[in-house]
Amino acid sequence: MDQESLNPQNIFKRICSDLKTAVEDRLHEYHLGVFTNQNLENIPTSRTVVLRDFNINHKTLSFHSDSRSTKIREIKKNNECFFLFYSSRLKQQLRIKVVSSVQYNNIISANAWGKTSLMSRKCYLATMPPGSDCNIPTDGIPKHLQGKEPDFNESENGYVNFCVITNQIINVEWLYLSSDGHKRIIFNWKDKEPEFKWKIP
Ligand SMILES: Cc1cc2nc3c(=O)[nH]c(=O)nc-3n(C[C@H](O)[C@H](O)[C@H](O)COP(=O)(O)O)c2cc1C
Repeated sequence: MDQESLNPQNIFKRICSDLKTAVEDRLHEYHLGVFTNQNLENIPTSRTVVLRDFNINHKTLSFHSDSRSTKIREIKKNNECFFLFYSSRLKQQLRIKVVSSVQYNNIISANAWGKTSLMSRKCYLATMPPGSDCNIPTDGIPKHLQGKEPDFNESENGYVNFCVITNQIINVEWLYLSSDGHKRIIFNWKDKEPEFKWKIP
């Protein structure tokens, strides 16, 4: 990476551009991220989620979830969370500190729901909440939907279980691995332009 590419403003621009691309591009490695929060016993817990939105003006990252899932109760108790992304192609890791909030049955969730496919909606039709105990291996989706999409009317029943988690970005830590020497920088994103600080990797 040359000096121009290591200019902090340019690094930040590329981070934003990669996150934006990753929302639409399923093959971009940042399309899937690891979301970490504290569980109800204050122990860290992580899971993979699909990056659904990056809003540069609002400084938010979003993903969709089942409103009955355990993480929703956890986020409501403690909204300080992290996103982690890694791209082996870019040789870059993003560790993003966020404050999360649950958007349920409001304009944000309604807009996002309106854009979901019938196949994505099917998950929200499971009769029992995610994480429920069951005696057999099952996805909990009603039997008549096995191997097929719900029709539009039936898919609408899933909205009651749908939510969007919006995550206000506090800071973004970028780590770049290189044989020329690894590089690490943290961007605190309070104002329009983030403040930065280089770190030893
Ligand atoms: C590739 C992949 C993508 C996933 N995307 C999501 C997602 O966008 N939202 C979500 O809530 N769970 C998603 N999951 C499932 C979560 O990783 C997790 O198992 C589930 O949300 C239950 O987590 P919880 O018990 O901590 O609430 C995904 C899993 C995989 C493997």
